[in-house]
Amino acid sequence: MQLTDLRTPFAIVDINRLRANINAMAARARAAGVALRPHAKTHKSIEIAKMQIDAGAVGICCAKLGEAEVFADAGISDIRLPYPINPVNADRVIALLGKTRLSIIVDDMDVAQGWSDAMKDVGKKLDVLVKVDVGFHRCGINPAAADAADRVAFVASLPGINFRGLLSHAGQAYHAASELELEYIATREAEMLRDLAERATALGVKIEEISVGSTPTSRFIDKQIGAPFAPTEMRPGNYVFLDRTQTGLGAATLDTCAMFIAATVVSRPAPDRVILDSGAKTLALDGARGFIAMPGHGLVILPDGTPDPTLVIERLSEEHATVKATMPTRLKIGDRVRVLPNHSCVVTNLMDELVLADGETVAGRIKVAARGRIS
Ligand SMILES: Cc1ncc(COP(=O)(O)O)c(C=O)c1O
Repeated sequence: MQLTDLRTPFAIVDINRLRANINAMAARARAAGVALRPHAKTHKSIEIAKMQIDAGAVGICCAKLGEAEVFADAGISDIRLPYPINPVNADRVIALLGKTRLSIIVDDMDVAQGWSDAMKDVGKKLDVLVKVDVGFHRCGINPAAADAADRVAFVASLPGINFRGLLSHAGQAYHAASELELEYIATREAEMLRDLAERATALGVKIEEISVGSTPTSRFIDKQIGAPFAPTEMRPGNYVFLDRTQTGLGAATLDTCAMFIAATVVSRPAPDRVILDSGAKTLALDGARGFIAMPGHGLVILPDGTPDPTLVIERLSEEHATVKATMPTRLKIGDRVRVLPNHSCVVTNLMDELVLADGETVAGRIKVAARGRIS
């Protein structure tokens, strides 16, 4: 079966690029001597998680318990949740502990106490890392605070907790304006963690793991040094598919991106307007990030495979992509194009399945098993 036999819109995943991306990140982690624990939120699929583990990943990350439940039921034996889970979810965490090796993060002392109490009640211990804010200013304790090491020591002292170490996500990398700034963000991330690890160690805390990670900073893993408190683990997620944002951040090229949306021109109401059938319910609304501005809701790739940046997807309705043709275009109703999405992770969560492609041939389908598992 050919891709052209399928009705648009749908998400194409190039199987050869997917494999190459999985192997390249595994090789990068191996070369740097760190464990690879990919974030599965990008693909939400059991098959791809297994491909990552077969290539050497030690386990996966999930954002939410709902995702972890899907992967644990599928036999994934080591799952980390680098997301602030509240102890009201203790029943779900305890159920998961019977199925997989689970670890979570905390950045709040009351929450840490709550987890310890919940575990003590059932005679278990939960693997916990302290989340550290290395500049994204989302979650995490402030490593510059005078009491940061005391907080780590407090978590490590709790009887229901098996303290593992420190974890960070330098999400500000997505706002970097240059390669140099990205490198700086990555190296500072490691420095901040090392500094906090040293201070906590001085209080008698044993730091087993230092977990860092994002796709744009992953290429600087060998610069994230600082033995004996250098990163032990990296957690990129997006790298399996990559996307337009990653091309803007120097983490991908058009030839390494594995996910595209197959779309069809459904209306040509004006010479400078093309309507595609891939609206916000297909492409999602995220803008693209990068060192230079990249307007529009994705990059249009013409039927002959040529990317055409003069076609700007300037507006998404639920089911329509309104494309402004800033130069004359030959696109006509019925033509099929591909769109490189701005952010592949959010596209996945809109799809029941991903169509695997080997060239123009359909090579299989992958179920997005954890689709919609957002709680
Ligand atoms: C805590 C955490 N770790 C790892 C990742 C993976 O980063 P990326 O999507 O850049 O690969 C994310 C992404 O959102 C994250 O939030």
